[in-house]
Amino acid sequence: MARSTVILLVLSVFLIAARSAVIQDDLPTNYEYFTENGISSGLNADQKYFTLNGKNITIFSGAFHYFRVHPSQWRDRLRKMRAAGLNTIETYAAWNLHEYQSGVYDFGNGGSDFEAFLDIVQFIKIAQEEDLFVLVRPGPYICSEWEFGGLPSWLLRDKDIKVRTNDPLYLKYVARYWGQLLLLLEPLQFTKGGPIIALQVENEYGNTGNSDPDYLHSLVKIYRDNGIKELLYTSDPPGAGSRGALPNELLMTANFNSDVKGNLDKLDTLQANKPTMTMEFWSGWFDHVSEDHHTVSVDQYKQLYEQILTHPASVNIYMFVGSTNFGFLNGANSLYPGLNNSGLQPDVTSYDYDSPISESGEITDKFTATAELVSKYNPIKSKLPAIPETHERVTFDDIKIEQQILLSEIIDSFPNKIASENIVSMEQLPINNNSGQAFGYIVYRKTNLNLNANAVLKISGYVRDHVLVLVNGKLLTPVLSSKDDLNKFGYWRVKDSSITLTNEALEGATLDLVVENNARNNYGGLDQFQQFKGLIEDVLIDDVEIKSWEIVPLEFKKSWNKQLTGWHEVQQTRATPALYRVTFNVKAPLRDTYVNVQDWRKGIVIINGFILGRIFAVGPQQALYLPAGLLQEGQNEIIVFEHFSAPEYVKFSRDPIWGVGTHIN
Ligand SMILES: *[C@@H]1O[C@H](CO)[C@@H](O)[C@H](O)[C@H]1NC(C)=O
Ligand SMILES: *[C@@H]1O[C@H](CO)[C@@H](O)[C@H](O)[C@H]1NC(C)=O
Ligand SMILES: *[C@@H]1O[C@H](CO)[C@@H](O)[C@H](O)[C@H]1NC(C)=O
Repeated sequence: MARSTVILLVLSVFLIAARSAVIQDDLPTNYEYFTENGISSGLNADQKYFTLNGKNITIFSGAFHYFRVHPSQWRDRLRKMRAAGLNTIETYAAWNLHEYQSGVYDFGNGGSDFEAFLDIVQFIKIAQEEDLFVLVRPGPYICSEWEFGGLPSWLLRDKDIKVRTNDPLYLKYVARYWGQLLLLLEPLQFTKGGPIIALQVENEYGNTGNSDPDYLHSLVKIYRDNGIKELLYTSDPPGAGSRGALPNELLMTANFNSDVKGNLDKLDTLQANKPTMTMEFWSGWFDHVSEDHHTVSVDQYKQLYEQILTHPASVNIYMFVGSTNFGFLNGANSLYPGLNNSGLQPDVTSYDYDSPISESGEITDKFTATAELVSKYNPIKSKLPAIPETHERVTFDDIKIEQQILLSEIIDSFPNKIASENIVSMEQLPINNNSGQAFGYIVYRKTNLNLNANAVLKISGYVRDHVLVLVNGKLLTPVLSSKDDLNKFGYWRVKDSSITLTNEALEGATLDLVVENNARNNYGGLDQFQQFKGLIEDVLIDDVEIKSWEIVPLEFKKSWNKQLTGWHEVQQTRATPALYRVTFNVKAPLRDTYVNVQDWRKGIVIINGFILGRIFAVGPQQALYLPAGLLQEGQNEIIVFEHFSAPEYVKFSRDPIWGVGTHIN
């Protein structure tokens, strides 16, 4: 081959390469498009359409909660969102994680069990690197099917506090927390060169049934006092009218998943000269325990999404990224006001939500439908990344369980039991730097009891939320075996519940009441936020009130989980509350899996010290998502706390499992 031919060949290969590069580079990034002439103004809602930096914009957003996804997956999910054509993401911020004790903060290096999930600054910076704008909804109340709607339980240590109102005590705590949070968000605002284009004030305040402009004004003031200059807005179902809003001051946005025209017309009537935006278009739905798993068909999703876009309106798809309520952080609905716990409806651990991106990061048909419609309706063409590859999940072999510690052994050996004359709730315990106990279990132990034959225990009011009664270490609460059991002794639905403690007289007996917090309410009227957990009313035996308790907070914190000692061979009986431990080896590359919990009844799963989630055989969730980021090369440890009766193996699954456990009739 002549030298010139080689040069020509090389040159043409180079030219072809350059040409395809030019085609790629032809389009600006989303960020370049909106900032090509510098930045002079942020998101503006002073006319019927949005502008950003003076240019028209339709917000194509998707919801992604950083505190529900392992940080090793943040970039993957964000790039997928951008690949679908979205130009914006939306996230809440979780106060109860960021200020896990009163005055003690964690924004990624604060030493709490969720530390790794809490670097909100890093999350927002990655969103910007992935060419996405950000809507932040820091609440302080966030609903979100999240424990107590994101409020920290230590607020309840003042029993008279009125959360979500202008109560000076509540506002003092909000201002202190936002002082920390907004310090971090202030430099990330669009007009400061960051990606945050707007922030929300409160959350569905209209759904409280109240109107409280003074409170909303207080929140606006805290924002402005902390240097937040971007657009502020409220979000409510339009059916709530302007009850949760500050009309003529803040942009109102709408939340719904049906009757697009009715809802958006209503919004337009409330606010004629401002842009129309759906802040929560529900892509799927969440699951309460004991219900069937909820899904929304792709056809319905697509039809509604297109109706919103053609209205025309901006829209945030809630959720876009399916995710997980790790730890004890699932929320609950509560049907009745005050301290009436009988209408509690706890949510499951999974927050898959039937979203366009599944809990395990898969691209679904809803993702594809979204990408098609965004491409059709967004007149602004900008550079999009390729969809990142989703790694295959794996399943591991069943592992025979050989190690156990009985719950009664843990209580026996627990140091520093708290002596208390009266029954007190978790929140009132003098622990955690005087912030009380937020999550987990609380044990009320009474020793040296002399019990008559057929002695009857009575718990006044409601258990909050599930109680295991043990006498001398023997479990009396009936073993969970049907959904109907939730209507019987041991669960939150029963008022003034009672159980026979012994058939024959006993002397010097030990009584343990092990009470599990299944989640504080996250929604509804202001009278539904008195969410004390554990027991709060009298406990009687044969109608005599019992005093002088020893109290054990069983918080299952990571450091405690990792240092548990006293493991022994599994005893003959597995029909008692106990912890079970297995170890297993994992080789690189680490891959996601699910822990199959179908053969268990009720409890929690802990992976390498971190609480993966809850087991509840009444369904609908029967496999817990275990992202690779929670595994490590080499030895890993799973501990299961089972309330009733344990199987012989820890099992895994490649895929989610919906339904009821194998022991539910
Ligand atoms: C911005 O959108 C409005 C409403 O659709 C339209 O009237 C206006 O011409 C648009 N401006 C530009 C520069 O495209
Ligand atoms: C206890 O809380 C206070 C604020 O209420 C905080 O300044 C202090 O650092 C906390 N101590 C610990 C050990 O976390
Ligand atoms: C709680 O509400 C239920 C349903 O309305 C009712 O039957 C029950 O009596 C209430 N409990 C209390 C303590 O008021």
